[in-house]
Amino acid sequence: MSIRTRPRASLSSRPLSIVISHLPICVALLTLALVLLPGAARAQAPTPTPAAAPFAAEVTIRADRAGSTIDRNIYGSFAEHLGRGIDEGIWVGEGSPIPNTRGIRNDVIAALRKLKLPVLRWPGGCFADEYHWRDGIGPRSKRPRRVNTSWGGIETNAFGLHEFMDLVELVGAEPYISVNVGSGTPQEMMDWLEYMTSDSDSALAQLRRKNGRQKPWKLKYVGVGNENWGCGGNMRPEYYADEYKRFVAFIKQYSEGKFEKIACGPGGHDLHWTEVLMAQATKQIDGLSLHYYTLPTNNWKKKGSAIRFAEPEWHATLMQTLRMTELLNKNSAILDRYDPDKRVALVVDEWGTWYDAEPGATALYQQNTLRDAVVAGINLNLFNQHSDRVRIAASAQSINVLQALMLTQGKELVLTPTYHVFELYKVHQEATSLPVELSAPRYALGKGSVPSLHASASRDAKGVLHLSIVNLDPNHPADITLTVAGAAPKRASGRTLTAPVMTALNDFGAAPAVTPAPLPPLQLQGDRFRVSLPSKSVTVLALE
Ligand code: AHR
Repeated sequence: MSIRTRPRASLSSRPLSIVISHLPICVALLTLALVLLPGAARAQAPTPTPAAAPFAAEVTIRADRAGSTIDRNIYGSFAEHLGRGIDEGIWVGEGSPIPNTRGIRNDVIAALRKLKLPVLRWPGGCFADEYHWRDGIGPRSKRPRRVNTSWGGIETNAFGLHEFMDLVELVGAEPYISVNVGSGTPQEMMDWLEYMTSDSDSALAQLRRKNGRQKPWKLKYVGVGNENWGCGGNMRPEYYADEYKRFVAFIKQYSEGKFEKIACGPGGHDLHWTEVLMAQATKQIDGLSLHYYTLPTNNWKKKGSAIRFAEPEWHATLMQTLRMTELLNKNSAILDRYDPDKRVALVVDEWGTWYDAEPGATALYQQNTLRDAVVAGINLNLFNQHSDRVRIAASAQSINVLQALMLTQGKELVLTPTYHVFELYKVHQEATSLPVELSAPRYALGKGSVPSLHASASRDAKGVLHLSIVNLDPNHPADITLTVAGAAPKRASGRTLTAPVMTALNDFGAAPAVTPAPLPPLQLQGDRFRVSLPSKSVTVLALE
């Protein structure tokens, strides 16, 4: 996406200038009231933000400059044994009154199927480097209870390998397994891969059959450790590169296909890690992982609240999430030097917002507002734009943990604003990425500014063009003139996700406050469409 910026037209030069010039104050007061009134954000205060004058923007989809295919795996997610992510979130057990298929929640299966979730990463996270796969096979009553030393609580191992593979088959997703490097051995990893994928009569393949799975499973993605610079073993990159090469030497092929071996990559901005890994192990690496979390404050000790925030935190969060741009560019530049043919994928297998836990909440449980939807839209746009290199991504995490797609409470399930962004964006899966040119003012607050619009586009197999476009500005709608270079679509329609207030969220026992709604039909004027996007919104248009 190329962005040309220009100063925002002075508000006082617009009609209704007296009312409009007081709008920032009105908005600030309204937001303050929502923050201060207990439960205001949860109650979805009905008072909408007063309509403000729109800003004008020009958007051009470059259908004449087709890029790479957007791998469907960019739309993946991550499920770790943590808090209520697996237990309660996915797994309720066969005897549960909550409708389930062999112990897995039916509502979760249906929601993930609707997303066309392509890939699911499991069992961690930090948990992966303390997980021993044999704990999670065989009769459930005999499985050991272990202390979850990463995240607290007891791991019952009721949800193990067979249950995870059942889940991905029910959902229609591919499994992505992270093997234990930090406290495991190459032998343990070899046994796991043989158990899963061998069709022979070896003892391990026979054990799998005895445990109920006749045919081997298909497994492609193998993550070799997780955050081995931190919770996965506190390693230096030179040491991990050696360990990685030792482990992958023992990744054998037991059936058709080929394992894609994914190395632990940098956390955030540690480019030295990427440099060393690529210098020492490019030949053995199929994918290099990258983790980046969006913290409103960029301070791990005081991250900020998921639900109580005002415009400064909204703006700061968007500034922080946009740092993903720089991470993708800088890591891609290193990969380009060692791998100019782009064989090695960048695998952004943990991304999302991370806020302070609410008192009494289970580990890493957080609510999810319209702000998270905007964060998701920006990150997915970035992955679409970098689809030549980013070929797998996994949002952290799927259910009840961090920037979740879904939240559960007993038998209730809530689809978060982030879920709806994934649902809107699924049209990009396997489509051809197209550049987007934007001319729009920047959205400034205090000393910082961010683009007011952020977009990506693609052309699907039927020739339909899809534009996903985020309006980061919480106060002003966007009046967009949309042109397409290299194609002449005649019709356009779209759906948008927005709400009256930036803290809007979907909660248990209440009507959903943030769900996509159709846009009024777009008008074609000559060779351009006119479209008005609400402030603080995520929109996907189809043009044909
Ligand atoms: O997603 C939560 C944790 O964040 C993961 O376990 C770890 O890999 C990362 O630090």
